[in-house]
Order: sequence, then C-alpha cells, then structure tokens
Amino acid sequence: SLPNKATIIEVGPRDGLQNEGKIVSTESKLEFIEGLQRAGIQEMELTSFVSPKWVPQMADAKEILANVEKTGRQFVLTPNEKGISLALESGAKALAVFVGVSDSFNKKNINKSTSESMAALEPLILKLKEEGIFVRACISTAFYCPFEGAVDPEKTVALCRQFVDWGVDELSVADTIGMANPVESYELFHRLKTEFPDVLMTAHFHDTRKMALANIFASLQAGVDRFDASAGGLGGCPFAPGATGNAATEDIVNMLHRMGIDTGIDLDLLCEAVANIEPHVSNPVDTGMYRLYKNK
Ligand code: HMG
Ligand code: MG
Repeated sequence: SLPNKATIIEVGPRDGLQNEGKIVSTESKLEFIEGLQRAGIQEMELTSFVSPKWVPQMADAKEILANVEKTGRQFVLTPNEKGISLALESGAKALAVFVGVSDSFNKKNINKSTSESMAALEPLILKLKEEGIFVRACISTAFYCPFEGAVDPEKTVALCRQFVDWGVDELSVADTIGMANPVESYELFHRLKTEFPDVLMTAHFHDTRKMALANIFASLQAGVDRFDASAGGLGGCPFAPGATGNAATEDIVNMLHRMGIDTGIDLDLLCEAVANIEPHVSNPVDTGMYRLYKNK
C-alpha cells in the first residue's frame, strides 16, 4: 500500500545549478533557496564544496552557507576531506557524500576509482558519526553508467552495505543518466528496503528519458517515501554526458498530492520560486505544472 506522506529533498540549488553554464549570482541563489523554504521544503541540498576548477558554479558555497536560514535538514554535498572540513567550518550539520558504483564514472567525477574513494571516505564518515553529524550517502550510477552501460545490482547493494555498516543515516540511490525503467526501479528499491530497513532510503531519478515519474511511482510501491527532486527540473551532472535534470519538484509534488500523498509543500509558492530562478538560467523552464502556473 502507498504511504499517506512523502518527503521531498530539494536538490535544485545543487544538482540543478551545478551544470548551468551561466554563473548565477549568490544573491539569486539565496533568493531561490529562500523561495523554496517558503514553499515548505524541509530538506534541501544547498550547495556543494567541490573543486571550483571542476565546478565553477559552486565556488560560492561558503557565502551560501553563511547566509541561509538553516531550518529543517539542509545538506551540503562534498566528496572529500577538504570539502568536509570547509562545510563543518561553515556551520553545516548535515553532509552528503557521493560515490559512483561504476569505476569509470567515479574517475570522471571525482578522479578516483570507487574503491579509492571508499577507502578515503571510511575514516571520515566514522568521525562524522562520532560528532553527531547527519550523513547522507549518494550512490551514483546505481542502475546505468554512461561509460560502462548496465550496472550489476549486486555491486550497488554491496556499496550501499558498506555505507550502512559505517552508520550513515540515509542512502540516496541515483539513476544518474535517467535510464532505469520502472520495473528495474521497483526491483532495486524493493531489494534495498528489505536489506537495509533501518536507514532512510531515498530515490534520486534524473528525467533524461522521461521515466522519472513512473520510476517514482514504482519506488513508492517498493516502500520508498523520500524523493530527491529539482525545482524547474533544472540540472544534471557535468561529468555524465547527456544527463539532464532530476524530475521536477513541482511535477512530483502534484502527482503525489493527486494520489492523496501529503508533502507539506505549497505548489503555487514552489512555482513562484521557479519563476524567480528562471531568468538566471540558460534554458526556459518547461515542466508540466510550471507551464500551467504561468498560463493561469
Ligand atoms: P583533483 O584535481 O583530483 O583533486 O580533483 P585535488 O585534491 O588535486 O584538488 C584540486 C584543487 O581543488 C585543489 O586546488 C584543491 O585544493 C581544490 P588548487 O591547489 O589546485 O588550487 N579542492 C577543493 N576545493 C574546494 N572544495 C573541495 C576541494 N577539494 C579539492 N572539496 C575533486 C578531485 C574531488 C576535488 C574533483 O574531482 C571535484 O571537485 N569533483 C566534484 C565533481 C562534482 O561536483 N560532480 C557533481 C556532483 S555529484 C552528482 O551530481 C551526482 C549526484 O547528483 C547523484 C547522481 O545523480 O548520480 C549526487
Ligand atoms: Mg544527480
């Protein structure tokens, strides 16, 4: 049976903007974040501490953190020790680390093999958990890799198990290039929910092939009630060729509400936040619910 509540983890300010070629001002990003919080978003990835040479758009992570309202669970994404210390210095209480199941993707994204990344992360995560920091582990290429093709679900489960053994609070399992179909989504998430009943389980679908909403419905049926989403459908990973944004928050929220699943989010205020960021990004926003909002 379906849940009567679900949680949206807004990733627009991070996943949504990291791939944007036009540098968005810190002020516009802060307005976007505030608008999303006003709409009722409780959990969000605010920014990332990554190399500004690799991802110039996120170079203002420190200023973002210094100026946001830190109500709810506000994440900062980071891959390494340097990013973790910068985030903690800036007052972050919830961190998201990331690693790819596929070696070739992880090399392109973080310049390390998957096992090198995991070896470096282990002591860092153990320490964060001792310090009481909320840790979310983002698992990229959990279904398909842009370089290696289909990923063996056993490898995804094994990687998740390592994080669970280290005590992470949440797994965010990602279809990085939007290639998974609803049957695959149901099967993987059913398996993960069964193997790891005590960790928060979140699904992160990119909408490259327009299967994200169907995948979300399939994951709901598998018992998942947490979904990463990007307002306006913005984004994609700069190191995953052809990847487009996550499923749009406004379209997911609409679908969930229509099914009687509460999110605590106000759809009009959410679209208002999208309207505020739209002039600052390269492409017009073209999601179902945003189009209806504009034509009202
Ligand atoms: P590298 O070049 O191997 O590392 O990059 P390095 O240690 O030699 O560092 C290079 C420079 O960056 C140095 O500066 C470091 O100090 C600096 P320099 O001495 O040359 O002036 N640096 C940093 N600065 C700020 N914050 C940091 C940091 N670390 C190093 N944390 C590195 C390795 C990991 C740094 C690089 O590959 C990198 O930044 N990668 C990030 C890539 C990225 O952001 N990808 C997108 C996010 S993941 C994603 O989108 C997937 C997800 O949505 C799920 C899904 O959909 O699959 C989560
Ligand atoms: Mg992503």
